[in-house]
Amino acid sequence: MKQNAARIVVANWKMYLSYNEAKDRIEKNADTLQELSDFVNCKTVICPSAESLAVIHSALQKTNLLLGAQTCSSFTSGAYTGQISARSLAEIGCSYCIIAHSEERARTHENDQLLQNKIEQAIANNLIPIFCIGETKEQFNAGSVHDILEHQLRPVLAALQKIEAGKTIYIAYEPVWAIGTGKIPQADYIQTVFERLDAFFVSLSAQYAIGFLYGGSVDEGNAGKFWKIALLRGLLIGKASTDFQTLKKIVLSSVE
Ligand code: PGA
Repeated sequence: MKQNAARIVVANWKMYLSYNEAKDRIEKNADTLQELSDFVNCKTVICPSAESLAVIHSALQKTNLLLGAQTCSSFTSGAYTGQISARSLAEIGCSYCIIAHSEERARTHENDQLLQNKIEQAIANNLIPIFCIGETKEQFNAGSVHDILEHQLRPVLAALQKIEAGKTIYIAYEPVWAIGTGKIPQADYIQTVFERLDAFFVSLSAQYAIGFLYGGSVDEGNAGKFWKIALLRGLLIGKASTDFQTLKKIVLSSVE
């Protein structure tokens, strides 16, 4: 798989910031946004919680930063209380959509069909899906990581059967035990996972742009080591990404 395309840092703000806090943070960091814009070899995507998408979108105007959503509905439109359609996300200015984050998987227990529908909804509305996979500590200890990951990828395979060639999809490998814990896997372990994913997608990689991200306890101190992983396209960052100075250091580490 070719890895010469721009790198990407995705800031998953989860529900860390309220609407006012998100607005305040983006407004106070206008200079940093411009600096992040200048890193042409590394795209930055900000994924605030849904209510802040519009205000963050307007703050990102005149920058090269992009907007992403943390999830989307698996449905097109209709009587789905509490859901946000991929179409609305696109209309509000999103270009990316995180799908199947482990925190959402644990809460909603969505089945493969719903996850497949989300990918299809995202693509149909020109959102680039960032599809998350990752094993628990028990699964890691049991040595069943690759089986688990391949199982979790079934909705991606099914969706790609229906999606026109040329589309981009990111696969974010986020071990559940690494998210928010300060524990990170060894770089060679992540490389092995990516090699298996690369082999898994081999028959599709000529038709689609499939990039691999790592996520889980990335911070300014450890980000540099991930960029050395040959098949890594980018990073998905939670807590550390809510601080713009930290985010800038992480993006900077991608070009050092
Ligand atoms: P973390 O979260 O960086 O806070 O560990 C990553 C994620 O859940 O995407």
